[in-house]
Amino acid sequence: MLIELFDLRGQYSELREDINAAVAESLCSGRYILGPRVRELEKTIAGYCGASYGVGVASGSDALFLSLLACGIRDGDEVITSPFTFFATAGAITRTGATPVFVDIDPGTCNIDPEKIKPMINVKTRAIVPVHVFGQMADMDAVVSLADKNGLVVIEDACQAMGAEHRGRRAGSLGHAGCFSFFPTKNLGGYGDGGLVVTQDERLAARVEILRAHGSPSKFVHESIGYNSRLDELQAAVLLVKFKHLERWIEQRNALARHYDQLLGDIVAIPLAMEGNRHTYHLYVIRSLCRDIIKTHLERNGIGCGIYYPIPLHLQKAYKHLGYKAGDLPEAERAAAEVLAIPLHPGLSSAEIEKIVQLVRDVAAQESGVRGQESE
Ligand SMILES: Cc1ncc(COP(=O)(O)O)c(C=O)c1O
Repeated sequence: MLIELFDLRGQYSELREDINAAVAESLCSGRYILGPRVRELEKTIAGYCGASYGVGVASGSDALFLSLLACGIRDGDEVITSPFTFFATAGAITRTGATPVFVDIDPGTCNIDPEKIKPMINVKTRAIVPVHVFGQMADMDAVVSLADKNGLVVIEDACQAMGAEHRGRRAGSLGHAGCFSFFPTKNLGGYGDGGLVVTQDERLAARVEILRAHGSPSKFVHESIGYNSRLDELQAAVLLVKFKHLERWIEQRNALARHYDQLLGDIVAIPLAMEGNRHTYHLYVIRSLCRDIIKTHLERNGIGCGIYYPIPLHLQKAYKHLGYKAGDLPEAERAAAEVLAIPLHPGLSSAEIEKIVQLVRDVAAQESGVRGQESE
């Protein structure tokens, strides 16, 4: 691959000295799980998001799962979410015993469409999990207002969106809890799994803390059956180093996205940033009816790209029992057929962007030629 979709090795080379020093210091400390570095990370990320509390957990998936449990979501409840997300969002809901109810997306942003939430609310509905997909927040004003009117919990799946903003407020700070993933490819990623819950609610934070440690509020005292979902010191040490660069990286991602927008806007659908939103471009996702041809052409020429997501969750085998069928959520299904993420990472040069754009143009030119011949 000449240009990878994610450039994790390049990022490590840039920060090698600082990361190696932080890892060595952590190894020498003799504290490896839930120690001072995890506490510092929890405070740092909560502060950055404009939240009062942060709780480090084993993954973004567990951040969602434990937040839902801490809010009392359980068997028999319904939780509204997007079908156009990584499986973990719905998987976390199902693991609590609740049923995910999928609501179609806004085709411009690929985030849940608040207009379509209202008709799905019934007596069993307990929560909404909006997903800030690709690094852009869902329409949280609308989601929170609906939730407030109906007495529902809001858990933000902000796994892809650390640093994103909606009308000046950061991802994670608008719902009852906000959930982040430190999966290596994320804008703030570790070297393994990790996640974090932020919240304004002290009691909710305390419940997540207890749940992540076998239901234990203090050593060898267990008030419930919890889980082992702890964050380790090595990940926290690495993340604290990387965090110092997060804002610069987000700004660079935005500058690169503007460059792509200018060069691609006339040949494919470019990602829409909703007015009042700060996008973080975890993924730069174009849409085209010729998506599969573009993908093949890019890959043949050494350019990494990926389909996020090829099968919307309501059509996954794992959710067959819920009874959805093709055509039920048409915008999510259309998106699944058209989206393609192309490389966008802070180290990408203008020449690399232009090369990628040229390859996309090749396909557009070829396809318009084919269509021209067909209509002759
Ligand atoms: C939208 C979304 N939700 C949840 C997750 C789960 O996070 P993790 O992989 O850290 O468990 C991810 C990460 O891939 C994600 O992108």
